[in-house]
Amino acid sequence: MHDQRETGARRRVAHPRELALACVRILCLRKPGVAVPITFRLAPEVLRPVGHRAILMEMETTFHGLEFLTAPGRVFTPRVTTEALVDAALAHIDERPLRIADVGTGSGVIGVSIAVAAPQVEVYATDINANAVSLARENAERHGVGDRVHVFEGDLLEPVPGQVDLVVANLPYLPEDERRPEYENEPPEAVYAPGDGLEPLRRMLHICEAGKLAMPGFALVQYRGDVLEADCQHLPELRDELARHAAAA
Ligand SMILES: C[S@@+](CC[C@H](N)C(=O)[O-])C[C@H]1O[C@@H](n2cnc3c(N)ncnc32)[C@H](O)[C@@H]1O
Repeated sequence: MHDQRETGARRRVAHPRELALACVRILCLRKPGVAVPITFRLAPEVLRPVGHRAILMEMETTFHGLEFLTAPGRVFTPRVTTEALVDAALAHIDERPLRIADVGTGSGVIGVSIAVAAPQVEVYATDINANAVSLARENAERHGVGDRVHVFEGDLLEPVPGQVDLVVANLPYLPEDERRPEYENEPPEAVYAPGDGLEPLRRMLHICEAGKLAMPGFALVQYRGDVLEADCQHLPELRDELARHAAAA
């Protein structure tokens, strides 16, 4: 629909972008088990708030064998390589009721997948992006783990109460001058960080070292497709390893 321009037109018809369209979902309703991969780019004006409402287009993706809602352009869309981070975390989880932090949770895929696979753990997920926080909560409810996946808006581990036994993080790590076309439709703060890109990961590891990570806890981070990890006594070595990788990249 567009403005009517014919002579005698009495009513102005709203442009689609003026409509109060709070939420658009593209879901495969007839065959919920079938994932339909759709590649598209959203025009910047579609991603901007319209009046007082934001258009939040939701889609579905499969991650670690589970279906998750995503919000392209607003919340980082999970990548299949991140499933390795979930597997590495699960390798550290036994029968104990561990407390696990998922830092930079995005759509919640890491924390929710861990909570589904390990019913005895509590997950504390954080993100600075309010849309990510809403989406992660929605995904936790969707998989019946909303009571054990606590999602907070805030910086790194700051909103997480007490100590945790395991820290898992897929935070931004690319330097701002290393723009990558595959991340063009992602929120920049999900992908890029100042300097060599390691500032969020370095800060997070310092917080772990300062006592947030309980003995004998582990920190696991994703960096350029690899999973790097260290126990709480070897966090400086993990920081050095990340710096070496960043210098070589
Ligand atoms: C690469 S995305 C990963 C999202 C999700 N973990 C995944 O693997 O799909 C990084 C996420 O970290 C969040 N983030 C960036 N800086 C942060 C910070 N200082 N504290 C918490 N979250 C942060 C971004 O908003 C984004 O959702």
